Amino acid sequence: MTNALELDGLRMHFGPVRAVDGVSLTIPRGGVTALVGESGSGKSTVGRCVVRLLKPTGGVVRIGGVDVTRLSRRELRPHRAEVSIVFQDPAGSLDPRMLVGDVVAEPLRLAGGSRLSRRARQQRVSEALAEVGLRDEVARRYPHELSGGQRQRVSIARALISSPALLIADEPTSALDVSVQASVLNLLADLQRDIGFACLFITHNLAAVEYLADQIAVMYLGKLMETGSREQIFARPAHPYTQALLAAAPVADPVRQRAQQKVLLGDDMPSALDPPSGCVFRTRCPLAFEKCALEVPPPVRIGDGEAACHLVQADGTRPDVRTGAHG
Ligand SMILES: Nc1ncnc2c1ncn2[C@@H]1O[C@H](COP(=O)(O)OP(=O)(O)OP(=O)(O)O)[C@@H](O)[C@H]1O
Ligand SMILES: [Mg+2]
Repeated sequence: MTNALELDGLRMHFGPVRAVDGVSLTIPRGGVTALVGESGSGKSTVGRCVVRLLKPTGGVVRIGGVDVTRLSRRELRPHRAEVSIVFQDPAGSLDPRMLVGDVVAEPLRLAGGSRLSRRARQQRVSEALAEVGLRDEVARRYPHELSGGQRQRVSIARALISSPALLIADEPTSALDVSVQASVLNLLADLQRDIGFACLFITHNLAAVEYLADQIAVMYLGKLMETGSREQIFARPAHPYTQALLAAAPVADPVRQRAQQKVLLGDDMPSALDPPSGCVFRTRCPLAFEKCALEVPPPVRIGDGEAACHLVQADGTRPDVRTGAHG
């Protein structure tokens, strides 16, 4: 069976800035993978490469088994409908001059849906709005007349109207009021379960994906530190970075969470302009030793996932940042 998405050594360098530096990841059909990491780790850049808002500088992107990495804009057109993206900020990603109905219908038009009659298109728009819990009359409003939560529902309706096999959701709730974040997250989870599209869910908040993702990929400074099933990542994280993120995760208060993380991780992430030699995480890793500055750790198979750390071994040996023990 073909996978919904395969990334093979994906690279996106902006001149000297190594925003994404060799990311390999597979999402099976209907699977939900969370891409987690601190601000600036390269998560959105991965998403933008997948939907080809950016043309990768290296590696391969396969969607539904088809290598789309080096297709031209015209060659991409027949594949347009297979992947959609929902952005963080619904105000900025919806055209303010277009009626909501036209915003939602646009992907149908772009995919050659002009062959659909006006009536059929309106019908599809009503269905799409109903699926995200919005009434029909919203179609005749402008985006600015809606609340933030309603606008994000519109973005979701728009993203799903072309029945994509893969949805990229880039921090879809983090610009919303805390009071509506959960309802939009639940909506996405319900739609995913009902429709069965695959999803790359991008977030900086590991705790938020516990009930959504079946696979988790932890990113740091352009590279994947660890991947694995949700069960494994939460119960037996192997990489020191994942462990540090989890040790800080269960706190509801973001200020306290940052403070907790600081105890384990110290300063902010170094710049992607000048990443550390060897393991990029070593300058903040409480367990770093000589080898970490000299050699890039290759991903090692552990349990049902992989971790890129010199202290992780295929026999199951893994470090523990809280005790400082290795083994
Ligand atoms: N067009 C660009 N030109 C130059 N550098 C860029 C560009 N886009 C992103 N970057 C850099 O690439 C790195 C990764 O950025 P990216 O937006 O992918 O991170 P992110 O993980 O999505 O962060 P956040 O959680 O803040 O959204 C950052 O150092 C950023 O400054
Ligand atoms: Mg981002």
